[in-house]
Amino acid sequence: MENVIENDYLLEINGLKKYFPVKKTFLRKDIIFNKAVDGVSFKIKKGETLGLVGESGCGKTTCGRTILKLYKPDGGEIIYRGKDITLLPENKMLDYRRKMQVIFQDPYASLDSRMTVGDIIGEAIDIHKLMGRSERNERVQYLLERVGLNSEHSNRYPHEFSGGQRQRIGIARALAVEPEFIVCDEPISALDVSIQAQVVNMLEDLQKDLGLTYLFIAHDLSMVKHISNRVGVMYLGKMVEMAESNELYINPLHPYTQALLSSIPIPDPDESDSKKRIILEGEIPSAINPPAGCRFNKRCRYAKPECGEIEPEFKNIGNEHYVACHLFD
Ligand SMILES: Nc1ncnc2c1ncn2[C@@H]1O[C@H](COP(=O)(O)OP(=O)(O)O)[C@@H](O)[C@H]1O
Ligand code: SF4
Ligand SMILES: [Mg+2]
Repeated sequence: MENVIENDYLLEINGLKKYFPVKKTFLRKDIIFNKAVDGVSFKIKKGETLGLVGESGCGKTTCGRTILKLYKPDGGEIIYRGKDITLLPENKMLDYRRKMQVIFQDPYASLDSRMTVGDIIGEAIDIHKLMGRSERNERVQYLLERVGLNSEHSNRYPHEFSGGQRQRIGIARALAVEPEFIVCDEPISALDVSIQAQVVNMLEDLQKDLGLTYLFIAHDLSMVKHISNRVGVMYLGKMVEMAESNELYINPLHPYTQALLSSIPIPDPDESDSKKRIILEGEIPSAINPPAGCRFNKRCRYAKPECGEIEPEFKNIGNEHYVACHLFD
């Protein structure tokens, strides 16, 4: 991975697509697709955290996994350190596999219950043949301490740990091979509220110390605001808005973002009264057969006739605030 970054961006995706074929039914002979990610573009600067939010099923996980090429992209480009890796064959991906890691949402399902914690954390070191056995074991112990666990626990099994501890093991595993970029896929959603902040704080400390770049996926908008420099909002396989965190929270432009933000509980009861909740109407449509035009049009209280016909362009309306909505044409 000798290529240098020519601009500040570590990662750039252009028009990324991932379509899952949907099982054909008796009556339907043609192949239909679930367009889980349907032309998403963004850039992430080195050392930056980009938050990614949206309702369950809108394509956040698929987007993260396609960037890591855990899923084969069906269109668009993934550019890492200035190099297009979209079509890079697997045998040339090894360096990128090492530099691009993931922390999964479910700390129970994501750790192999038959492996010791030491083998889970050390597995990637072994795959990449980075060091000998004793050095590797020392590194595992170091990593356990680094994520706030006891270095003597490497011979234990995942079931001996709590959810929060397991997620720390998942983080140590991601760190083992000195990554640059980590997709954090809802890393705290499955954890008790009482320990969510600890894990987020640890991820922030690690980022500062190790110069990491994060794509931080969440459905909890308040948490994403805290950790992210910029936030992108996805709806049904599309990015509908993206801006610097504070700007997005103070000045949300897309009707969907406004609805998402209005559903965050506000601690101050007086303020809660004055800030009316927007109730989203209509069911979440499916990415298998998305509405024509703006995909949000069936649920949007500002929808006008053209919204059902013409797809709005995702564009910068100034100050690096991007939105895809005909209200800003
Ligand atoms: N491996 C898969 N195979 C087929 N369909 C999938 C797969 N993963 C996700 N999907 C579908 O893609 C869409 C987006 O899912 P996902 O990326 O998991 O959303 P999110 O992470 O935002 O909840 C959903 O309709 C989901 O059912
Ligand atoms: S394009 Fe139209 S339907 Fe879509 S969010 Fe904007 S106003 Fe609503
Ligand atoms: Mg997900």
